[in-house]
Amino acid sequence: MSGKGVTLPRHLLQTQRAQGEASGEFTALLTQISLACKVIAREIGRAALAGTLGATGTVNVQGEQVKKLDLLANGIMVDALEESGLVCTLVSEEMDEPLHFGKACERAKYVVCFDPVDGSSNIDINGVVGTIFSIRRRTGQGPEHVAADLLQRGTAQVAAGYAMYGPSTVFVYTGGDGVNGFTLDPTIGEFLLSHEGIRIPGRGKTYSVNEGHVHRWDPQTRRLVEHLRTADRATGRPYSLRYVGSLVADLHRTLLEGAIYLYPAEGDGAKPPAGKLRLLYEAAPLGFVAEQAGGRASTGAERILEVQPTSPHQRVPLLIGSPEDVALAEEFHQGKR
Ligand code: AHG
Ligand code: MN
Ligand code: MN
Repeated sequence: MSGKGVTLPRHLLQTQRAQGEASGEFTALLTQISLACKVIAREIGRAALAGTLGATGTVNVQGEQVKKLDLLANGIMVDALEESGLVCTLVSEEMDEPLHFGKACERAKYVVCFDPVDGSSNIDINGVVGTIFSIRRRTGQGPEHVAADLLQRGTAQVAAGYAMYGPSTVFVYTGGDGVNGFTLDPTIGEFLLSHEGIRIPGRGKTYSVNEGHVHRWDPQTRRLVEHLRTADRATGRPYSLRYVGSLVADLHRTLLEGAIYLYPAEGDGAKPPAGKLRLLYEAAPLGFVAEQAGGRASTGAERILEVQPTSPHQRVPLLIGSPEDVALAEEFHQGKR
């Protein structure tokens, strides 16, 4: 920790003042999200004792098994955002349909998309998980804007970030002016500035991908990964493999140490190949964070932040990380190598 004792709300206020944002609403909204993350951290920390590990027995709109903590964390986020009075519409991985807070929509400026628990498969093994959020301004006041509000490109994000529940709880966000990270001091219950102005290295030494799925990849992805594993002293290869299976944790490592994370389109012959990660509450927010740290995020063919959303739970392929590593991966993807 820096020891400077800059709390997250103080940092937000200072940044907003410097940018001439007077209303304090943005600060209030991010503070409210960070409060929800503290509550989620508490629930994750005591889940084994509280009987909240394990599955609910239901399947979500993604066709994935829902864990008890997915639902608990979703409720915590929804309550916190409703309480703020600043949000008209929510999109969550754990809710089939977007949620509109009817009354708040008359004046609320924001739309929030989130993944309450990212990396749920790690929950029952005390592995690292996270929460991802993305904030956009509404396209205008009034009910006629609600549909358009939802499907704005990642370039329309005004803020995005994540909480990571690991050996310490960290909160990393961008408001479009660089990336800052905070570490929870549990003795005072505050996030304190610990990672100021995060910059991703130009290239890294690791690749991060679920390599057990190699049989579902296209030839370009196979050749890329084969290239990264091939020894070549001049270009720092072979790269090592690191894969937590929690996008937040894999991205956090990638931001701090440099490298590439990929979840490519996968196919089994029956259906057209598709990515797994969701655009609105996984790829776009983390793409915004990566770009603001000097990195890149791409589908292989297109910048993630420019992908036009067509539905709330839309999936995309994702290549994210150091600028040189992502550029190399795009060259493979586009058949230039
Ligand atoms: P979620 O737990 O929110 O459904 O997200 C899981 C995602 C992501 O966190 C991770 O990178 C990826 O799925 C892991 O998928 P595999 O188990 O297929 O590797
Ligand atoms: Mn997720
Ligand atoms: Mn999730």
